[in-house]
Parts: sequence; structure tokens; C-alpha cells
Amino acid sequence: MRRLVGWPTPRFLARLLGEERPARAAVTERDTPHRFVDTYPSNQNVLDLFAGEWSTMMPPESGLVAHPGGSNLIGDERIHWLAETLGSLEGLDIVELGPLEGGHSCLMQRLGARSVTAIEANARAFLKCLCLKEVFGLDRVHFRLGSFFPYLERSGPTDLIVASGVLYHMTDPLRLLALLAARTDRIYLWTHYYDPVAIAGRADRNLFAPPEPIGESSHRGSRRLYPEVALSWQGFSGGSDSYAVWLERDGLLGFLAEAGFEIAVHDDRPDHVNGPAISLCATRSPTAGTGAAAD
Ligand SMILES: C[S@@+](CC[C@H](N)C(=O)[O-])C[C@H]1O[C@@H](n2cnc3c(N)ncnc32)[C@H](O)[C@@H]1O
Repeated sequence: MRRLVGWPTPRFLARLLGEERPARAAVTERDTPHRFVDTYPSNQNVLDLFAGEWSTMMPPESGLVAHPGGSNLIGDERIHWLAETLGSLEGLDIVELGPLEGGHSCLMQRLGARSVTAIEANARAFLKCLCLKEVFGLDRVHFRLGSFFPYLERSGPTDLIVASGVLYHMTDPLRLLALLAARTDRIYLWTHYYDPVAIAGRADRNLFAPPEPIGESSHRGSRRLYPEVALSWQGFSGGSDSYAVWLERDGLLGFLAEAGFEIAVHDDRPDHVNGPAISLCATRSPTAGTGAAAD
């Protein structure tokens, strides 16, 4: 049978001609490190599915190892501080943005949250969340695969939104802050911010553009490119774009104050190893406004 050069063979014909190629690259050994696991079933086997890609350290008493697992997220003192600042997490319905591997989700269930709805966009990270859900029996945590932007646009009010490690990955951070303010009266934030002096002293200062006003607002942000080495790591925990916008500290606090929040700063480190960083809890008296559209 003759074919016109440059025209793809229709799929059913290609099958008949034996020309059909897989629709996408074959699954590699890297994608499925163990097709079969023939040792005794264990939680360690579950964690080993993603060996080399874990950020979360397993609690020592669990006897489990997640490699390299350098961050103590399941015992994170920032979340303990949040619980103390609010009085308790007991009985709260919490929305968590970007749970990564579910370490904070696990801790918030342990601290008594009634429910944690954790929205993760990165498919591999989501699968690791499911691993932790199974390993630690997280029956009040629900991981959802997708972006928190459309989720927040359509969801109703919630008791608390935990946005740890996500704002500085956004290309439109004010949009995210506006959505948070529209959906809750309690926000936890841990984020990097732009500080000219601190950034000027950093080796990676060339990744940052001079700050500019964001849209029509009076708040400014600096475009920050992701280093190539970060983008290429399988365990990359950033956003889906090649850059993000880092707000200035005063702009971040000012935006929340304008939205009626009182701010308790837990920790503020201009000299944080990965860039200036702040940990805070923003609360306001219950408003009738939460749950309304953020536009
Ligand atoms: C730096 S990690 C923070 C993990 C954890 N919350 C913490 O504080 O350690 C950022 C996480 O947010 C996720 N993420 C980024 N943009 C997202 C989006 N639009 N929707 C859902 N998850 C997102 C990333 O995939 C990643 O898991």
C-alpha cells in the first residue's frame, strides 16, 4: 500500500501494516523500579518504591527509612506552633495546599484535625502522599490530585488553609492570597520573600529580576528563575512554570492586613539558606465574606 509522504498513517491502518508505535514512550525501569516485590509485605517496601526521591524524614520510632528524607515534616515545629497559636487543631476542617509527600498532613491528623483535604498537583508527589496515607493510616486525610487554583475557586469556606512552601512557587502570588482570603479566616503561611539586601548577598542573585509592581496593585514582586538542577530532579517540589514571583515582605503582610487579618509572625529569617523566609499565622474575626468568589 502506498502512502503520501508526510501524512501519518491512520491508527487502524498502521495496526494492520504492523507500523504502530506505542502512543508514548514505553514504561521504563526508572518509572516502575519494582514490577514485583517478592519480599515479605512491609511499609518499608512501600517507601522504597520512591527510594532516592523522598524529602520527608520518617519518625525514628517508626523504624522506617525514606531516602534521602532530610526534612522533619512529620514532626515539624511550625505546625506545632500553628496548633498552639490557634489553641488547637481539634475539630478543624483544613485545606492544605501542596502537601508534597503528606508529612504535614500526617502531623495535622495526629494533632486532631477533623479533616485534611490536601491538594497536590505533582503526580509523583501525589503517589508518595498515598504511600504515607497507607503507611500511617491517615483516615481523616484526603489527597486530591490537581491544582489548588481551580479547587479554591470553586470550594466553600473552610476553617483553616495551610499554605506552606507554595506561595513563592506561584507566578501570580496575589491571586493565591486573594483566594485564601476569600475562603477562610485562618491562614498558615510559610514562604520565601524578596528582600533586596539579603538577595544581593546570595550566590544565586542572578536568578532574581528587579522587583516590579504586580498588575494594578501597589505590591511588588521579583521574578525568580528556577535553577536547571532543581527542575531536573525527580523529587522537584516546585511549581509547574520555569519561574515564580517572590513578593516583598511588606507587600505580603500588607495584603493580608488590607484583607482584615491580624498576623502573628512565628519566624522571620532573611538569611535562610534558600532565601529570606517567613512563617506566620493570619487570623481575622469570622466574616460573612468567606466562601464568596475571589474575583
Ligand atoms: C515546596 S513544596 C512544599 C511542601 C510542603 N507543603 C512543605 O511545606 O514542606 C510545594 C508543593 O506544592 C505543589 N504545588 C505547586 N503548585 C501547585 C498547585 N498549583 N496545585 C497543587 N499543588 C501545587 C508542588 O508539587 C509541591 O508538592
